[in-house]
Amino acid sequence: MTAGLRKGLTSYGDAGFSLFLRKAFIKAMGYSDDALERPIVGITNTFSDYNPCHGNVPDLIESVKRGVMLAGGLPMVFPTISIGESFAHPTSMFLRNLMAMDTEEMMKAQPMDSVVLIGGCDKTLPAQVMAAASADLPVVVLPTGPMVVGNHKGEVLGACTDCRRMWGQHRAGNIDVVEIETISGRLCPSVGTCSVMGTASTMACIVEALGIALPFSAAAPAPLADRRRIAEASGKRAAEIAVSGSPLPSQLITAASVRNAMIVLQAIGGSTNGLIHLIAIAGRAGVPFDLDAFDQLGREIPVLLNLKPSGAHYMEHLHHAGGLPALMRELTCFLDLDAPNISGGTLGDAIAAAEHVANQDVIRSLASPLKPEGAMAVLHGNLAPLSAVIKHSAASPHLMRHTGRAVVFDSIEDMTNRIDDPDLDVTVDDVLVLRNAGPKGAPGMPEAGYLPIPMKLARQGVKDMVRISDARMSGTAFGTIVLHIAPESAVGGPLAIIHNGDQILLDVEARRLELLIDAAEFDRRMSVLKDAPPHRTPPQRGYAKLFEDCVLQADQGCDFDFLMRDGSSQTPKKVG
Ligand code: FES
Repeated sequence: MTAGLRKGLTSYGDAGFSLFLRKAFIKAMGYSDDALERPIVGITNTFSDYNPCHGNVPDLIESVKRGVMLAGGLPMVFPTISIGESFAHPTSMFLRNLMAMDTEEMMKAQPMDSVVLIGGCDKTLPAQVMAAASADLPVVVLPTGPMVVGNHKGEVLGACTDCRRMWGQHRAGNIDVVEIETISGRLCPSVGTCSVMGTASTMACIVEALGIALPFSAAAPAPLADRRRIAEASGKRAAEIAVSGSPLPSQLITAASVRNAMIVLQAIGGSTNGLIHLIAIAGRAGVPFDLDAFDQLGREIPVLLNLKPSGAHYMEHLHHAGGLPALMRELTCFLDLDAPNISGGTLGDAIAAAEHVANQDVIRSLASPLKPEGAMAVLHGNLAPLSAVIKHSAASPHLMRHTGRAVVFDSIEDMTNRIDDPDLDVTVDDVLVLRNAGPKGAPGMPEAGYLPIPMKLARQGVKDMVRISDARMSGTAFGTIVLHIAPESAVGGPLAIIHNGDQILLDVEARRLELLIDAAEFDRRMSVLKDAPPHRTPPQRGYAKLFEDCVLQADQGCDFDFLMRDGSSQTPKKVG
């Protein structure tokens, strides 16, 4: 089998000439023949001035390179797309699949025997792992790590749960313009990913639980020396698997490891986005994903991690409490400990190496959980024929069974224009409905599901109310918010037939989301919907057209239909 510089020669019709030419050009960079004979470890460079969550990538690259060279390999850094959450228009999710395609194709096009995938901000790790599952080249995933916490007037702050909380206080008139500007300088005191259990932290935990990142990779803060030592170890390990050729992503991303990741997702109070990404990763690996099995795990697995937005602490505190292996030690009776790990051992070996940290309140035991059930529930009902999701670990207990009058917004723009209108007919007991914000509807399924509390209610002290949509929500957000309703309204989902004033039932215990109108009226509205014109003009060119034509619904991970393992847009067969 060809390896190193001989892999994937450029097609000139003469293999000898292709290699000669390749060597001639790369020698322009001063490489010796000795260096060019080594196994090659590719390293993705996702640094961007637009992505502060990846601000430490140059340092991490240096550490990875050191590890690769200590193990006798040749590190080769190459760029890929970088997606910074708050700098991506219309939404980072629109670009995740593009980054996955870019990463996969560059991994396959250029000669490398293994790859260190450095990512962090929300969509980057899922894109990279989706790419790895499709390219099936040996990889070590290296998260950039969370930022450290900030302080304001004696209070600990972290992005971005406290961004939303402080902004809510500002909207309610409790924090003035000067103070909110001061706070904006204190919420993100270092480079790195958001410091709560948002999507980036969730995905870092998921890649560690899948066994495709080294143990302790998820929680070490971005600016700490520990993070750079993990980077060095990742480089060293990548050089070893460049020679051995295994384990491959297909050996790591299996039914067992995906189930382990589902358990961790429930136990950490993870982001709802993490669910979409895990489905997409499983789809790339050809592992069927059973949403109902995920829901059932949520009834059995309590939230053990006391991190915002479900709890009180921040990612750096998880690191100091022993990291994800210490959390997984509490879950050993649920996990498949024989699942292989990129470190060369098993998940059980990784857990055995975890430190016991006494007198900490970050990682709870099964006997003393933060919440009696897991982070998320999967809902069904006439409003969600395929599924919908609620993160009930970060919702208001008194709204877990609620019936209210619908206040409908037809699009994100409509919601933006009217939500703060003093004449908006809305009360605290109503259900806010947002539609046309799903994968095709918006497009890209923006994080608009966290509808703001209407200004006039916020000023009365209202902090939460039931909100439902086909959109996503930031993992850092708190509230009684039903998301990912599938099928979305833009493709004819029943969200589209809700009228202002209809009664809507949310019953989390029963896993129901229902529009309370009689069946004949429901059918009548659905048949009228079939002839309704599209709510926006579909794009006619470029990536936007590809996205419009090929993106799957949330219950299938929002991947492109032709990128799943079997190339089909069919729901993967369910097992279990
Ligand atoms: Fe990048 Fe939160 S904005 S991780």
